[in-house]
Amino acid sequence: MEREKFGSRLGFILVSAGCAVGLGNVWKFPYMCGQYGGAAFIAIYLVFLVILGYPIIVCEFAVGRGSQKSCATSFRKLEPKGRRWHYNGYIGMAGCYLLMMYYTMVSGWMLYYFFRYLTGSLTSQSMTTEQVSSYFSNMLASPGTMILFMIIAVVLSFAICSLGLKNGVERITKVMMICLLGLILVLAVHSCLLPGSGTGIRFYLVPDFTAMQAKGIGNVIFAAMSQAFFTLSIGIGAMAIFGSYLDKERSLSGEALSITLLDTFVALMAGLIIIPACFSFGIEPDAGPSLIFITLPNIFNQMTGGRIWGALFFLFLSFAALSTVIAVFENIISFAIDLWGFPRKKAVICNVFAI
Ligand code: TRP
Repeated sequence: MEREKFGSRLGFILVSAGCAVGLGNVWKFPYMCGQYGGAAFIAIYLVFLVILGYPIIVCEFAVGRGSQKSCATSFRKLEPKGRRWHYNGYIGMAGCYLLMMYYTMVSGWMLYYFFRYLTGSLTSQSMTTEQVSSYFSNMLASPGTMILFMIIAVVLSFAICSLGLKNGVERITKVMMICLLGLILVLAVHSCLLPGSGTGIRFYLVPDFTAMQAKGIGNVIFAAMSQAFFTLSIGIGAMAIFGSYLDKERSLSGEALSITLLDTFVALMAGLIIIPACFSFGIEPDAGPSLIFITLPNIFNQMTGGRIWGALFFLFLSFAALSTVIAVFENIISFAIDLWGFPRKKAVICNVFAI
């Protein structure tokens, strides 16, 4: 059977970038910058992107395009007889399922917060800091709500995949990614125009190596390296599949470069949205994971038009998360297609239950 192909080059770039751009960029990267000393952390992170991230992404695309398969069977197809490269396929498949176990849950949180901003229940000016933080702990203490929103994220993403590569994954991800890039610009400009954001921008752009020493150089280097791996979605063969949908005429290194640049751009801009806003309201951006769910909602409450900014911000996060979930589901579906020759619809149905 002829392998499905993307409809356009832009589609390929945006779907692959959609896979790479996710919670790692918009959630983890800003709080790691806050914790590990701003610009000094970013400098090391960029070095690892160039020396490790970029070459690996090119390799993954090459494996996908060479084999015309997803990572479930790509190594089996390419390896010389009797070699054991195909064990990698099992690691990749397990990786995709493991990642989705928590990723879909956190994507559900993003949808939940977006929904809450739309209904306005998180933005009364009279809400105290404690009330905002108890909002987050209440959500964590209510499995029903979390599961409901996780199911919404899962079903929505599988529904999109079931429409096929071109009509579902490519068409919808393209729209989401273009909206995401638009939202990012609007939010970043707004954040940098807040009074007092200058200190934040300085923290973000001027390296301060003393803060880094306080954390321990080794820890910072390790954090920057793992972030470079995580953000590009490499290591579990998830990017390989997009190589398999790509025409032979395209240069893999050129395409990989566009994707790396786009991914880095989104991460840097997410920091530029969050960090100046924190400084502008006199809050340290080193809160860790709660930065987005407690610190920022507090900031939105003090802002004029906070409800709108909050809603737009969580819409932006939801797009980033869902584009990744869709891309990994596309992988998961194609495992069943490549391994057992399932039709796409059957693969979707089995996997909805598996997930
Ligand atoms: N890159 C994704 C993000 O930034 C997360 C991720 C890590 C991922 N490894 C992956 C996604 C493998 C797909 C496949 O959020």
